[in-house]
This record gives sequence, structure tokens and C-alpha cells, in this order.
Amino acid sequence: MYQTSSRPKRAKVLAMAGKGGTGKTTICALLIKYLVERGQTPVLAVDADANANLNELLGLSVETYIGELKDRMKTETPPGMTKRDYMEIYINRAIIEANGFDLVVMGQPEGPGCYCMANSILAEVMEGLAQSYRYILVDNEAGMEHLSRLNLRKIHILFVVSDPSSRGVLTAARIADLTKSLKVEVGHKVLIVNRMPNNLPARLEDQIQEVVKKTDLLFGGYVPASERIFQSEIQQESLLNLPTDTDVVQTTQQIFDKFFVTSQ
Ligand SMILES: Nc1ncnc2c1ncn2[C@@H]1O[C@H](COP(=O)(O)OP(=O)(O)OP(=O)(O)O)[C@@H](O)[C@H]1O
Ligand SMILES: [Mg+2]
Repeated sequence: MYQTSSRPKRAKVLAMAGKGGTGKTTICALLIKYLVERGQTPVLAVDADANANLNELLGLSVETYIGELKDRMKTETPPGMTKRDYMEIYINRAIIEANGFDLVVMGQPEGPGCYCMANSILAEVMEGLAQSYRYILVDNEAGMEHLSRLNLRKIHILFVVSDPSSRGVLTAARIADLTKSLKVEVGHKVLIVNRMPNNLPARLEDQIQEVVKKTDLLFGGYVPASERIFQSEIQQESLLNLPTDTDVVQTTQQIFDKFFVTSQ
């Protein structure tokens, strides 16, 4: 559990994992809402999904992807400027400023060619940014290799999102296991079972308990299948504007309250 009343010198990194379509981006947006509403700011949200869509759930539009900058750095760095300075300036310009949080979008992975220098400069600049935020939240696509590309030193909490199925929960367990082979250290791994139907089958509950017993996953909680999320998606509304009494806002708040100590 994290004491967040005084501002740490380095951002704590929170990341999302889970198989495709389980609700990683949705839960990530609700976590941003949770932290911002509790004044746990500044927060930097990093969309590391090549098919970026976190911005849509936050009602923001993206102008520059970090992926583009890696290419532009190679050809557009003016004489007399170092590539590092170029990247630093343009990464800072690519950061979208919102209310209480910022968003940076990685975009498509690099094409053929060497990006070692660009990636190492990016890692350095991100390292510098980590000093300016309280939390860095990384939304990922399914699969763990994207996480290793970000060169994070430590992930304090990895939220592993599952759908309400036996196979989904077993996949979450496998993902939790896979993180052990990543270069990055992972503090807590928290299982969230999303899109729960009204009645939780007893067998699924048993399977979840078994997975929690056998792995180092902590059980975060259940998030209901929500008509409100369904509607927001269709209306393209920002999840940040969901009222406090919305089912998903309430259930995610109860889950996050277990892992963050906030004053509210
Ligand atoms: N609790 C919920 N209730 C209703 N719909 C939900 C819920 N959670 C997510 N969804 C919907 O499920 C779909 C997938 O959600 P989301 O994009 O968050 O998943 P993801 O894991 O980020 O997917 P991807 O792997 O493609 O990045 C979206 O249409 C979203 O609106
Ligand atoms: Mg997603």
C-alpha cells in the first residue's frame, strides 16, 4: 500500500496488462480519474499501445506520436543541435496537457532500420520525466514485450485485467508469471476481473481463488459489465466525466482504495 500524502522524488509506475479486449484501457482511464480526483497529481499517462485509443476515453486528441519523433530525429535534427536536445524538445511538445494529468502517445513501433540511439535517448528523457510526476500510468496492448521496450526500471503495481471466464483468469495467471522474465522489477500484481455479469458462477469464483493462491497475483476485485461504459463508448464521451455514483466508478474506486492511501 502506498502512502501518497507527500510527493515522492520519482514517479511510481503503474501499468496495465491482460489479454486483448479485456478492458485495460477502460480501467486505465478510470484509474487516471481516480488519481486526479484525489489530487494525486501530476500524473503522466503513457499510451504504449500501437493502436492508441486511451486519448479517446479521456476526450483528448493526439497530434504527435513519439514513434514519429524517432524517425524525425534521424533526418531533421538541425546542425548545431544534438539529437538528444532535439528529442527532449519535441517529446516535451508532444505531451498533451490536460486537467491534473498529461498524456504522451507512443504510436506505431519503429520500422526497419536502427533505432538504438533514438530508443536510448527516449529512455533517458522518460527517466528525466519520471522526476516531474507523482505517477506514471502505462496502458499497454496485450502481450508483455511492449512493457520491456519502455525501459522502465520498476513497475510498482501491474494491474492484470481479465474477462469473467476460466480461460481469461488462467491467462491472467500466465501473464503474471511471464513478468518474471522481463527485465523490469514488478512490485505488486493485481488481478481485476472486468465485465462481470450480475451473478458470479461459484465455479468461476473458486477458479479465481485458486489462481490467487497459486500465483503472486493479489485479488483486486470485480468490475461489473456496465451499460454506462457501453453508452459512453458509443457516444464517445470521456470517462473522466462519469458521475461518481456510476457502477464502474464505484467498484474501481473500492479496488484502488486497497492499493492507494489517499486523503479523500
Ligand atoms: N466494465 C465494462 N462494461 C462494459 N463495457 C466494457 C467494460 N470494460 C470495457 N468495456 C468495453 O469493452 C471494449 C474493450 O475495452 P478496452 O478497449 O478497455 O479493452 P483493452 O483491454 O484495452 O483492449 P485492447 O487489448 O484492444 O487494448 C470497449 O468497447 C469497452 O468500452
Ligand atoms: Mg487497450
